[in-house]
Amino acid sequence: GREVMAEEAVLGYLEKNEEIPDSGIFAEEKGISHDEIVNVVKSLNGFRLVDAQDIKRERWVLTQEGQDYAKYGSPEVIFFSAVPPEGITRQKLQETFPSRLPDTLDAKQKSAIYKIGSQQVMKNKWIEMGKSQVSRTVQHVDDRVKDLLIQIRNGEAVSAEDIDALKRRKLISSQIWKGYSVKKGPKYAPKRKKVATDLTRENLQSFLRHFNLDALIWVHANSCAYLGVTGRRSSSKSITSLQKASQQKVAVSIRYSRHVRRQIQMIFLQMGFEEMPTNNFVESSFWNFDALFQPQQHPARDSHDTFFLKEPSTTRTLPEDYVERVKRVHESGGYGSRGYGYEWKRDEANKNLLRTHTTAVSSRMLYALAQGPFAPKSYYSIDRVFRNEAVDRTHLAEFHQIEGLICDRGLTLGHLIGVLHDFFSRLGMSKLKFKPAYNPYTEPSMEIFSYHEGLQKWVEIGNSGMFRPEMLLPMGLPEDVQVIAWGLSLERPTMILYGIDNIRDLFGHKVRDGLPSNLLSRRLSIRDLIASSTPVY
Ligand code: PHE
Repeated sequence: GREVMAEEAVLGYLEKNEEIPDSGIFAEEKGISHDEIVNVVKSLNGFRLVDAQDIKRERWVLTQEGQDYAKYGSPEVIFFSAVPPEGITRQKLQETFPSRLPDTLDAKQKSAIYKIGSQQVMKNKWIEMGKSQVSRTVQHVDDRVKDLLIQIRNGEAVSAEDIDALKRRKLISSQIWKGYSVKKGPKYAPKRKKVATDLTRENLQSFLRHFNLDALIWVHANSCAYLGVTGRRSSSKSITSLQKASQQKVAVSIRYSRHVRRQIQMIFLQMGFEEMPTNNFVESSFWNFDALFQPQQHPARDSHDTFFLKEPSTTRTLPEDYVERVKRVHESGGYGSRGYGYEWKRDEANKNLLRTHTTAVSSRMLYALAQGPFAPKSYYSIDRVFRNEAVDRTHLAEFHQIEGLICDRGLTLGHLIGVLHDFFSRLGMSKLKFKPAYNPYTEPSMEIFSYHEGLQKWVEIGNSGMFRPEMLLPMGLPEDVQVIAWGLSLERPTMILYGIDNIRDLFGHKVRDGLPSNLLSRRLSIRDLIASSTPVY
């Protein structure tokens, strides 16, 4: 399949070359999607076949408003053209203005363009507004804003000053592009021996038959299995994309995200899940990463991606005999695994951080569960997690993660697919697709996509998988016990369900100013946060 192709491309290239300096350029040259390359690089890096270093680039993209201006022209130029050389009365101008705009815009949008246009022409000194008469002060104007937006869209360079002005008008926003530079790792081989079974079309079909789901399989051009499950159709409301962020919209967004949160809580309770205690935001690297079989040289453990604590910088206690088993499984495997084959460092595991996922809590819960006689459990949580990421339209440095897991004997991928389908369709998202992915702690792993009616495209909504034996067996869980699990951000489905196009409207500085709500009172500074965190670290 495609994964294999991407993997062979990376390993094959490194056989003859020192380095892949830029995974983005490499993907383009090979005609393979960058996501695909990133997936295999993460996996190969985890097993130390390659050594990957992060590359981040900032680039500018047009906002919805910016795209509109690039298409129809800037409001100031539209306004200017609406004023004839001989002048016009205010009233006449207001009457005729809307007819100059495309019919696809509604009355509210048209009046917004009128307002912005009139402000900008005054600022540019293009137009004079008398008591009743409006007249030009210049004969001709160029649409610099439109030209600049088109240049940015085409990836051409634009001066810092222009960028600043467009940013202030919210016509562009920055996006962080992430990729890797890749070298041979200590375990490099031109081909990887596969230990785990591949997620093939046949496997998936048999899982589905086993689960007796009404299922459809999309097989992508290169026979990489994409799997979609059709199910009960919820009456899908037509979702309209909300316009510019206003205070009102922000207030509405908070209500949405609290509403979705309550809804999700209800869904989990109806499905028989118990809530996990998630009140410790400060976690040790051990529970956040090591217990999850995430190797210590994994890029997520870099300070670029994770907030590490200065004070207290290390954890107080860890269960020593379990730590010893975790060290061993990382270094040399066991339980049928070969491990990663590197020297595991206690100092690295001791480092305190702000948890990057609630899967840290899942690992604590499963360890606790393993200490008693086994009983099947279903757990969920909805709480805050933290990532050291640049904030943009779709990313926040802190957000809420929803986590669900089921621990029982004899669970399969079919059960996971069924549970996800059940869970998301209760939320009104019944069009799902799953794509094979890589997580250090799950195998197999699947990204979850949902069809966004408003955007008319598939949007990634979460991640899932079956926890690896390398994670579960050192905890002391019985060998025939499997854990199926998934995680997603609360903000993501909220955006999808309500057609909100900028995640910052859900949870950001704007939300804090002047809008008291339960959600706001929960917002704390990093210092408060550490103080309020249960001292388990
Ligand atoms: N922890 C993963 C994340 O942060 C989500 C996940 C949870 C994936 C459980 C698989 C299983 O995205």
